[in-house]
Amino acid sequence: MKLLVLGGSVFLSRAVAEEAVRRGHDVVCACRGSSGSLPDGTRHVVLDRDADDPAAVLDGDFDAVVDVARHPSRVRSAVAALPDAHWIFVSTINVYPDNTTPGGHPGNLALLDPIETDEDPATGPDVYGAMKVACEQIVTDGAATSMVIRPGLIVGPDDRSGRYTYWPARLADKAAGREVLAPGAPEDPVQIIDVRDLATWIVDSAEQRRTGIFDGVGPATTRGALLAETIKGLEADLDLTWVPQEFLVEQKVEPWSGPRSVPLWLPLPEYAGMLAHDADLPIAAGLRNRSLAETARDTLAWLRANPDAEVTGLTRDEEAELLAAWRERT
Ligand SMILES: NC(=O)c1ccc[n+]([C@@H]2O[C@H](COP(=O)([O-])OP(=O)(O)OC[C@H]3O[C@@H](n4cnc5c(N)ncnc54)[C@H](OP(=O)(O)O)[C@@H]3O)[C@@H](O)[C@H]2O)c1
Repeated sequence: MKLLVLGGSVFLSRAVAEEAVRRGHDVVCACRGSSGSLPDGTRHVVLDRDADDPAAVLDGDFDAVVDVARHPSRVRSAVAALPDAHWIFVSTINVYPDNTTPGGHPGNLALLDPIETDEDPATGPDVYGAMKVACEQIVTDGAATSMVIRPGLIVGPDDRSGRYTYWPARLADKAAGREVLAPGAPEDPVQIIDVRDLATWIVDSAEQRRTGIFDGVGPATTRGALLAETIKGLEADLDLTWVPQEFLVEQKVEPWSGPRSVPLWLPLPEYAGMLAHDADLPIAAGLRNRSLAETARDTLAWLRANPDAEVTGLTRDEEAELLAAWRERT
């Protein structure tokens, strides 16, 4: 197969290119090359999607294209240049305005209204999601055949977002002590997908020219199970202290990511559906997920090999202060 990866220099698109090369495919990565290195065995075509016309830069003879773009204009010009290929567009679950309903999937969740202009996706999840809706439509309308994948939280080696990485980093930090602040309640829903499992599914789907629209999510689990599996994967010996969300809110702790946050914690019930999508449909379509323990172990190995990688969330001092304040309260 001759595969075009629009990207390839970081995280998911890089993992896709790497997996396709491993299987012996002819892989072209088209990007600027400024986000990182391209995998060995790929051919790099320099493309700045804001400045260059893909039709002039790419030869057009591809069996499949994988695109991770967020800006509609970038997708529009690429689809116009390569309408005959099988397209796999990587979207996001942020296309759904409903973050509350567990068990969501493409068949039962409405979409945001599309934003067809290029805005700054960092404006917020609604703008990002609405631009992705427009990108999806450009692909499904313009490509000969297509598959749309809407991932949830993607984690694993090479994740530079610093969200999930907080957990392997914290749980492996022996100097920080045995007691770990765990946010919310053990039964709270959590859902992640390992970047390598998503990449494998994307390459399988390119080979098989799979069509349709799917969420790209791992099995729905609980925060208690995720932390237990992470501890197991890291062979750590720790005590979790569950601190209810009301206390975290009161202490001005932020959810999800960033400074003074507890990553992967989302307020309930507002976000009861965001990390609880239906995982059976992607599994029925071939997605296979490795264990949470393996993801944790390999992510820690990547973090140790890349000590400058950003990890967001509470500092160890903030965590210790919060645990002390919670002890005083109880
Ligand atoms: N991370 C998550 O948890 C999560 C969750 C849901 C969905 N998603 C989606 O999953 C995908 C992740 O993709 P990713 O990991 O490969 O990272 P990404 O940051 O989405 O994509 C980066 C790729 O796009 C290329 N690129 C950026 N600007 C470009 C330009 N002007 N011209 C040409 N290429 C350009 C980059 O190459 P150069 O910079 O080298 O040019 C890089 O290879 C995205 O579609 C994202 O929306 C992510």
